[in-house]
This record gives sequence, C-alpha cells and structure tokens, in this order.
Amino acid sequence: MVYEATATAPVNIACIKYWGKRDTKLILPTNSSLSVTLDQDHLRSTTTSRADESFEKGDRLWLNGKEEVVKPDGRLGVCIKELRNWRSVEEEKDSSLPKLSQWPLRIASYNNFPTAAGLASSASGLAALVASLARLYQLPQNASQLSLIARQGSGSACRSLFGGFVAWREGEKSDGSDSLAEEIEPQSHWPEMHAIICVVSDAKKGTSSTSGMQRTVETSTLLKERLKIVPERMKLISKAIKDKNFEEFAKITMKDSNSFHSVCLDTFPPIFYLNDVSKSIISVIEELNKSNGKIIAAYTFDAGPNAVIYSLKENIPKVLGAINKFFPTSEESKDPFKLTPVDLPENF
Ligand code: PMV
Repeated sequence: MVYEATATAPVNIACIKYWGKRDTKLILPTNSSLSVTLDQDHLRSTTTSRADESFEKGDRLWLNGKEEVVKPDGRLGVCIKELRNWRSVEEEKDSSLPKLSQWPLRIASYNNFPTAAGLASSASGLAALVASLARLYQLPQNASQLSLIARQGSGSACRSLFGGFVAWREGEKSDGSDSLAEEIEPQSHWPEMHAIICVVSDAKKGTSSTSGMQRTVETSTLLKERLKIVPERMKLISKAIKDKNFEEFAKITMKDSNSFHSVCLDTFPPIFYLNDVSKSIISVIEELNKSNGKIIAAYTFDAGPNAVIYSLKENIPKVLGAINKFFPTSEESKDPFKLTPVDLPENF
C-alpha cells in the first residue's frame, strides 16, 4: 500500500535579515528575523512524498527532476529523521496506525522559479518538504512546532510555513526548542502590501548563504554592531506592520538590507551579492521616493543581486513605471519564471 501527500510552500523575503549562526548544527541564528511571505503562484515549491513498505530500502529525493543524495546526517536527512520520530510517537499511541515511520520514502520537489539565485528557493523547498511529510504522517504538531524542524533544513525555511508577516525568534535555549517561527499578522491584515521581484540574474549565486554566514561570523567586526541594532528593529517593524505604517516599514526594511550587505562587505575575504544593476535599482527607488515627497517603495536584497521591492498596491504603477523606464523589458525576459512541468520523476 502506498501513502502519498503533496504540499506547496511559498518564498519568503526577509525585511530583517537572518545572517549568522550561533549553532551551525541546530541552525540557531545570531539574531531574530522577520519576513513577508509572497502569496503568489509563481514563487513556490511543491513537494510530493510517498511511503511504501515495498520500496527498496533507503530514502530517495529528486529536486526539479534530478536525484539528490539524502545523507542521513545531512540537513535533509535530519528533517526526515525528526519527522519520522514524531510519526513513531503517534504510532506508539495508536497501534492501529500503519507503521509509515518504518517505510522508505520517495520525495519529489519542484521550484517554479530559478533555484539558488537569491530568491530563497531553499526556504520554500524545505518548508514544502516538511509540510508534505507532516501531511503524509498526519502529524498533530502546529506550524510553529514544525518550524523547529524546517529550521534545521534551512534557517529561513521556518518562516515559509506561514503566510503573511512572520518572525523567527532567535530563542535562548541551547537545544533550539524556542528558536521558532510565528505569525505576526496574517496577509489579510495588510493586503495592500505588494512585492515586485526584479530578476537581475537567475544564475546560481557565488557564495552560498551557509559558507557566507560562517565567514561573516568568523571575520566581521561590524556584525557585532549589527546584532546590537536588530532587537530594536524587530520591535519597530512589528509595530509598523500592526499600525500599517508603510513609511516606517519601508525605512527599516531598506536600512536592514543595507546593514546586511555592509556586513557582507566587512567579511574577509569580502562577499559581494549586489552588482551594478542592483545598485542602480537602489538609486531608482531613492529618486522615486524623493520625487514623491514620501517613501512609497522599499528595496531589499538577499544573498544575490535580485531586488525585491515592497510597495502598497496604489503605488505599484509608479514603481513599475520607474523600473521600466530605467530597465526596459526585453522580449526574452518578459517571462523570467519558466514554469517547470510537475511530472514526477521516472521510477519515483
Ligand atoms: O536560510 P538560508 O541559509 O538560505 O539563509 C537566508 C539568508 C538571507 O536570505 C540572506 C536572509 C533571510 O533572512 O532570509
């Protein structure tokens, strides 16, 4: 008998960036972070998981149709193990449940956008994996509890288990049991908030977030200064979201993006995620805000050159007008998200 479940998870883009681990094994961050989940069909990971007693021994996983090795002590392996443990607890409580925890898994995951290009594909990917296994195993744990596991797959993934505005609390405990994600406000609280993604490059990024963060923690003196500022920013941006105060939200978002990229530059050897096009986008947004006499758009950049611009719905035409004026769209770049057909791999 085969059991199967599918789940999808969206990308989230941080306004207060997570950058630095205090525990690399458990993925415990050096600071809390806060993101907006992009509620879009275009930026999603979809994962199907199957458990079958008759599968050959060992778990197998395909990412965008290509098989990846699942190392038992690697990040994926750890997530699978933890979810299996939770399932076996349920099987012990109720002996009528099929022993799915003992059966091999086949997992297929697809992103419908460029992988590893600073568009947080690991976040949606790991969140979809955890959500699909939690569904397959019919686990009773809520999204915050599941975020404890998604976090160990990829830190920012813990935030993609929620929609809307989401905080990842750094936590204090050394076992990581309080380093979890929670919703600050649902998307319905501020539906006017929109995000524009400017795909500057869909090439794979040069320095992975894992190695970049480690180098920053080891070498940047500026990181210590950043860590002093973040707690206050978390409070202020949470209030700005609650009050729907866009200007305040935008100011903090831009400052934190700048602070994160400064820390990258202060890393030795330095890390450059922004390129000249990214910097021009910053200038365009600065000019746009100046000419409107108030802040109507906020840029933010993750570990790559692509810009995410937050703006309220009423101002989207102005933002798009400014971007299109300086960066006219060529025919071939009109649909940067080539949708991957979601056929399951052969012998899945
Ligand atoms: O979760 P990771 O290892 O992909 O790190 C994500 C880091 C940033 O995207 C740069 C910031 C963030 O909070 O998402």
